[in-house]
Amino acid sequence: MTNAMDAKTVNEDLKNPVARILGIETSCDETAASVVENGWEILSNAVASQADLHAQFGGIFPEVASRQHILAIYPIIDQALKEAHLILADLDGIAVTRGPGLPGSLVVGINMAKGLVIGSGLPLLGINHLEGHLYSAWLREEGKRKKNTPKFPLLALIVSGGHTELILMKDHLVYERLGGTLDDAAGEAFDKVARLLDLGYPGGPAVQEASEGGNPEAFEFPRAWLDDSYNFSFSGLKTAVLRTVQQLEKGKSKLPIPDLAASFQAAIIDVLIRKTLLAAEEYKTKDILIAGGVSANRALREQISSQKKYRVHIPPLSLCTDNAAMIAGAGCYRYCAGQRDDLEMDAAPTWSISEL
Ligand code: KG4
Ligand code: ZN
Repeated sequence: MTNAMDAKTVNEDLKNPVARILGIETSCDETAASVVENGWEILSNAVASQADLHAQFGGIFPEVASRQHILAIYPIIDQALKEAHLILADLDGIAVTRGPGLPGSLVVGINMAKGLVIGSGLPLLGINHLEGHLYSAWLREEGKRKKNTPKFPLLALIVSGGHTELILMKDHLVYERLGGTLDDAAGEAFDKVARLLDLGYPGGPAVQEASEGGNPEAFEFPRAWLDDSYNFSFSGLKTAVLRTVQQLEKGKSKLPIPDLAASFQAAIIDVLIRKTLLAAEEYKTKDILIAGGVSANRALREQISSQKKYRVHIPPLSLCTDNAAMIAGAGCYRYCAGQRDDLEMDAAPTWSISEL
């Protein structure tokens, strides 16, 4: 067993966390388990996606998601341990997503984690899903530890199906929430516009693909700057796409899907990048971290990386969307900071990162 000590001086220990943690993630439509060592080394990363199942409904059906998690959870954990060539006794703790997420999905992972904790005597760690997305930037799929790990203070943008959050990360596990979406999340906007354009689910990758070869300036869709605050709003943009589509259909024109997709994508990315850069400027950070499902977007990655003023950290594509390595990674840090949860730990479906 790894000899990880409880944190005495938190910041010292957190530079090089020593722990081997099993992570479990069931907050949405991915059932996932992973073993991560020392906050960066992925020993295994098993993900069972329900995307195909939900595609027939054009979105996530919570009841179906929970039942699917029940079917997939045990085999996925078994796979994660086998791929890491480990048994429970080799671990230091079990980290599980406590929230935010779908209540019925979260409890499947949490109850499984509690069962494993009872059977093994290992500590239980309830992890915030958004913190997990942030810690995906420290992970390595293979090879040596990253040399260019993110440096603090760090400006972080989390863009996923459920969240759009600008966060100032002052140190490991220390956050100040600067703003977030007032209505739709960025990924949700991608998913809704994809449905509108009949592109399928999940919408982000479908819009990205449809936008290839399209003109991002073909349609002038609105950008909600909100007086340059750090909040976001994407519902007006979604309505503008709807109105444009209705008008084009009324005129019996064939929908110019690539132009519509590219113009919508450009509008969303413009706002995400401008607000991120504004915040980085105000809080004088040198590093920017972008995480969450939408950070897989090619145009977003290219555009933010084209500026040279800030060092940009974006996880590899496989770690952008939901996975358990990010939960295990964050779990290593939480374990070394001394966190221990008890068996009364409940799901926290609306848990904000500002409560951490
Ligand atoms: O982080 P994630 O897997 O789940 C949540 O925590 O919500 O994010 C899923 C979201 C979906 O809305 C999906 O459409 C979006 O990420 N997404 C993308 C891309 N890949 C996934 N959005 C834009 N471009 C992509 N390539
Ligand atoms: Zn997520």
